[in-house]
Amino acid sequence: MLQETGGFPFSNVAEMYRTGLPQSIFPGNAFTNYGTWRDLDFSEGEITPDARIESQRNLYRIMSQETGISNRSRVVEVGVGRGGGAGFIVDRFDPRSYTGVDFSAAQIQRAKTVLQKHPEIALVLGDAGYLPFHTASFDILLSVEAIQYFPDPKDFLREGYRVLSPGGKIGICAFFADEHMEQNVQWLKETFPTIQLGIDHFYPVGDIEKWLKESGFINTRVQREGEYVWEQLVKFVHQVEPNQSWSDNFITAWQRKMIDYFLIFAEKPKK
Ligand SMILES: C[S@@+](CC[C@H](N)C(=O)[O-])C[C@H]1O[C@@H](n2cnc3c(N)ncnc32)[C@H](O)[C@@H]1O
Repeated sequence: MLQETGGFPFSNVAEMYRTGLPQSIFPGNAFTNYGTWRDLDFSEGEITPDARIESQRNLYRIMSQETGISNRSRVVEVGVGRGGGAGFIVDRFDPRSYTGVDFSAAQIQRAKTVLQKHPEIALVLGDAGYLPFHTASFDILLSVEAIQYFPDPKDFLREGYRVLSPGGKIGICAFFADEHMEQNVQWLKETFPTIQLGIDHFYPVGDIEKWLKESGFINTRVQREGEYVWEQLVKFVHQVEPNQSWSDNFITAWQRKMIDYFLIFAEKPKK
């Protein structure tokens, strides 16, 4: 199995998060996303672990500002992970409430540790495809770098629409397949063991737009973020894991326009 899958040590998403992602690539215990360097200093030289964490926090800052989180917002985050983003948003934007959902009991446990000083943040075990909340419970739904794992994003978007109140906003970010994906599916499958294993899905960004519309969302906006993500991510991964090649595959796929990192926003109509 390991040989067939390029030595990737996990066979599914649940197992991966039961064990936890490597501290070297995701330092500081609070975030597990690729981060964005938009508006940050891209200076030469080594990327420190603190700078890497700042890029991850920065992704949450942008998602929060673009969805308009304020002190009136009831926010739900799907795929809350270790909870660093939840803590950052509560400290910075003081929303009316914050609820984090994750399907991994281990991740919820890690988030409880990270968020010890934030007992007001609700942490709930639940699956993106079946959100354990009443209809129209929230004003903003965020999902940061989690949808690439969901086996059926349509279920998630339908559920997201349901739990948002009229006029509510959704913000999703992750890596998705781009315009040249179709011709390169085989290359991607051969190159990314996580695709072979059904861990990462590389959904076409156009399909996400289509599914948002089918779920009832309007005013969808897609923002390309790759120029602020890939090169810095790969530089950092090379610093901490000099012998790996997985992160180079992301650069190759991005340069060939097979994939990119996107931020996607949409709204539930007011009535
Ligand atoms: C890459 S991590 C991102 C965590 C966090 N958003 C961050 O940026 O640090 C993805 C998270 O999504 C969760 N996840 C994966 N599939 C899920 C599902 N079907 N429902 C809910 N959470 C899921 C994982 O357990 C993991 O905590």
